[in-house]
Amino acid sequence: MHPDTASRVRQSWALILPQRKTVCRDFYQRLFDRYPELRPLFKGEIGQQADLFVTMINTVISALEHPERVRPLIETLGSRHADYGVQSEDYAKFEAVLLETLREALGDEFNAEAQEAWHEVFETLSQTMQAGAAH
Ligand code: HEM
Repeated sequence: MHPDTASRVRQSWALILPQRKTVCRDFYQRLFDRYPELRPLFKGEIGQQADLFVTMINTVISALEHPERVRPLIETLGSRHADYGVQSEDYAKFEAVLLETLREALGDEFNAEAQEAWHEVFETLSQTMQAGAAH
């Protein structure tokens, strides 16, 4: 991990937290507009789903220096996602829309370094989830 990745991700996430409800609504809206085939996978209420997603990102961000502490949790999350019908190619769609949403919400604060930092964290997260889905 780049030495500044954790602080860059934390800094931008701190700006998102106060506006997380709006940002999450925007995120799922964009996701379903762009990839309508993903909509039927979500059975529950999207507001509640967004809260769970935010809590999980909080956990991941709190453990960036100690990924091994959350690895089992993330692998289990990945295996549940396989049960929801999520496929490996869906992770790239999710990331593209997530980064776009962050860029929209943060404007100039979401510079190239912040974007690269999020990409790095998301990449590790989705690989760990997919590893969990595989066994
Ligand atoms: C990579 C980062 C992701 C994180 C941190 C994440 C997090 C979560 C969390 C915390 C839940 C709540 C249920 C549970 O804990 O099992 C959930 C549910 C779900 N997620 Fe994700 N997710 C991610 C990626 C994706 C992707 C790529 C998709 C593909 C479309 C997806 C689709 C879903 C669906 C369909 C549900 C079930 C919701 C329902 O039945 O209402 N997630 N996710």
